[in-house]
Amino acid sequence: MTTLEKFESGKDLVRARLCKFTKKAFKLLPRIDRPAILDVGCGSGVSTMELAKLCDGRIVALDIDERALARFDAKIKKAGLSHRMRTLRRSMVDMDFPEQSFDIIWSEGSIYVVGFEKGLRDWARFLKPNGFLVVHDETGNLQEKLRKISSCGYDLIDYFILDQDVWWNEYCVPLQKLIDEMRPQCANDPELLALIDRNQREIDMFKVTPEQYHSTCFIMRKQ
Ligand SMILES: C[S@@+](CC[C@H](N)C(=O)[O-])C[C@H]1O[C@@H](n2cnc3c(N)ncnc32)[C@H](O)[C@@H]1O
Repeated sequence: MTTLEKFESGKDLVRARLCKFTKKAFKLLPRIDRPAILDVGCGSGVSTMELAKLCDGRIVALDIDERALARFDAKIKKAGLSHRMRTLRRSMVDMDFPEQSFDIIWSEGSIYVVGFEKGLRDWARFLKPNGFLVVHDETGNLQEKLRKISSCGYDLIDYFILDQDVWWNEYCVPLQKLIDEMRPQCANDPELLALIDRNQREIDMFKVTPEQYHSTCFIMRKQ
């Protein structure tokens, strides 16, 4: 394993600390037998793998990041889940699934790409009637987002907030530990150094405005 791959796996482990919230959101849905799930902006699939553990559904996981998808493909293969999980390299703005294809659409940390309201409106057509949309997004404009949910054609089933303490303790602290461990190994690896610096900036920004580091998980049902 290269040092870059080591850092990426370490970061997946950091991300996995937040999977308890993926589980919490999933448990707020009614039980669906073999649900068809679309994960929009899946990255390397850390939370998508959690979804696969939580149900016996078929999962399509979409992202534009080729490297992340390659890593995710390897995880799917290793877990023996190729019969019910597949990745798709496609932009969320170019999704062309047949209408009403999915029981659940899942989006963690990705709806910002199109915007909360546009995501809700555009993705509704891919959901079956009474299908579910779960969106984990930054908390900004919470009241406005809560109002948009019904005007975009969904009922809000529930929502919960991950506050700045969660983000600090479950994400920033372990990420800082990983950075500190890996930094001495990146002297001759400019790609890894750039990645480590990007992650360090994320933590440094948190320290400047910790109150902005809040996120909300919305659990919605298509009307
Ligand atoms: C913050 S990451 C979240 C990844 C994953 N959902 C998670 O929770 O760990 C945002 C993801 O959105 C993806 N992304 C950005 N623009 C995209 C687009 N136009 N279409 C699909 N995915 C996109 C990025 O490549 C990245 O993997």
